[in-house]
Amino acid sequence: MTDASDPRVVGETLRAWIRGRTGISITEQNQAPVELAVRLEAERHGLDPVIYLNRLQGGVLPPQAFIDAITTNESYFFRAQDQMRVTITRLIPELMRCRPAQPARILSLPCARGEEPYSLAILCEEHRIPPRAVELVAGDISATCLADARRGDYGPLALRRTDPTTAQHWFTPRGPRTYRLEPALLGRVSFYQVNLLEDAAAVLARRFDVIFCENLLIYFDAETTSRALAVLGRLLEPDGWLFVDHAEWNIPREQFRMQELDGCVGFRPTGAATPARAGQPRAGAVRGATAPAPGARMPAGDDSLPSVHQTPTPLPRPTHSPARSVTVAPSAPAPLIGDPRLAHAEAHYKAKRFAEALRTFDVVLVSRPADARARLGKARVLADCGEDFEALEVAEALLHAVDEGELRLSPADYVEALALIALLLHKKGLKDLAQGYLREIARRAPGHPSLGLLRPGPDHA
Ligand SMILES: C[S@@+](CC[C@H](N)C(=O)[O-])C[C@H]1O[C@@H](n2cnc3c(N)ncnc32)[C@H](O)[C@@H]1O
Repeated sequence: MTDASDPRVVGETLRAWIRGRTGISITEQNQAPVELAVRLEAERHGLDPVIYLNRLQGGVLPPQAFIDAITTNESYFFRAQDQMRVTITRLIPELMRCRPAQPARILSLPCARGEEPYSLAILCEEHRIPPRAVELVAGDISATCLADARRGDYGPLALRRTDPTTAQHWFTPRGPRTYRLEPALLGRVSFYQVNLLEDAAAVLARRFDVIFCENLLIYFDAETTSRALAVLGRLLEPDGWLFVDHAEWNIPREQFRMQELDGCVGFRPTGAATPARAGQPRAGAVRGATAPAPGARMPAGDDSLPSVHQTPTPLPRPTHSPARSVTVAPSAPAPLIGDPRLAHAEAHYKAKRFAEALRTFDVVLVSRPADARARLGKARVLADCGEDFEALEVAEALLHAVDEGELRLSPADYVEALALIALLLHKKGLKDLAQGYLREIARRAPGHPSLGLLRPGPDHA
């Protein structure tokens, strides 16, 4: 059996195939999730990884599940907060004034699990923008993401930048770590499965006044970015606005020029008039922003920025959430005992050889994706390397899988995973959110050292 961690499996042919299908550039740095996806999908089909890849690339097997598995779907509500603020307070009101018979058309592409377009839907509601005045359209290449988006269930990390009042108003707790979006909002966004590079213009079949294309170009090389921008140019009204993430501001200038509106940077077709909408004099200054040198990487978003809402504090974990129906295995599952690679990974971690530890945990996970202890180990290493949100994602996904009965973890390791999340949330300033995890630790392991962070509360006097 070929080992999918063997770099020859994720070689040039597969990289070229992925780039051709999605535009995403896979390098040695970001190929670990691809290796894992190959192994998981091969196992699902009961095939050797090499045979699986031959059939996938030969068109014998449908590609969607593999594409879903290799895309990075990380997102959260109110992520592009500046762009959302300007859209809601400036661009939509102006369109309503100067084009009252037609809705403002807003596109979120890619939309991941709907966090971005639903944030806009929430803001429209809060700013009393009627549904007839705005058409919210969203697209993504991932079918799994779109199914999740239509369902409207989210974990606490998706709400990490949502203020508690907004969260409590628009979301209902539905069991441990799941919040359901108000059903009335689900209907405000139309979702489409699209590949920006292939069929977006044909599927969406209209132009948009504002396009959010946040955190996608970063996965593309220069040539693919140019192709993507050409499509975005065809999807955008001649005087529309394109928003991309800070890290993507170095886009080529042939079709778009950078422009600032109310302190927010956007991109406009090169032919567009300088004011935000041609012929509409406005009070707010709109001026060209200083562009970074092509190829320059912009700093990541500043976590300390105020959110669209007034008080950006995190969603407290609901104290009234139903007791966990988690059945935790009485002890670590037997097959893990004696796995030499896991022992090596843990030894590297103890010796603070983090790069080797991470690589070894990844190797274990490629061949044993259901190895919960390797996942916990990986989350720990990521946390120690300062990759806090990535560590949170891994630990949260692990607990979710255990809660769902898909993976097994010993009670002690379960508490360690809770503690890791609590400490990371605390470190990130998400202290209210950390309290929910700490209360659960207090129930399971009353003497746990992390409880020094627990504030006295009704269920922990
Ligand atoms: C990191 S998420 C960004 C989501 C959201 N815009 C944000 O900023 O939070 C990237 C998304 O791009 C999608 N994607 C990747 N390649 C794509 C393509 N060629 N066409 C459309 N969506 C794509 C992935 O499925 C994933 O959901």
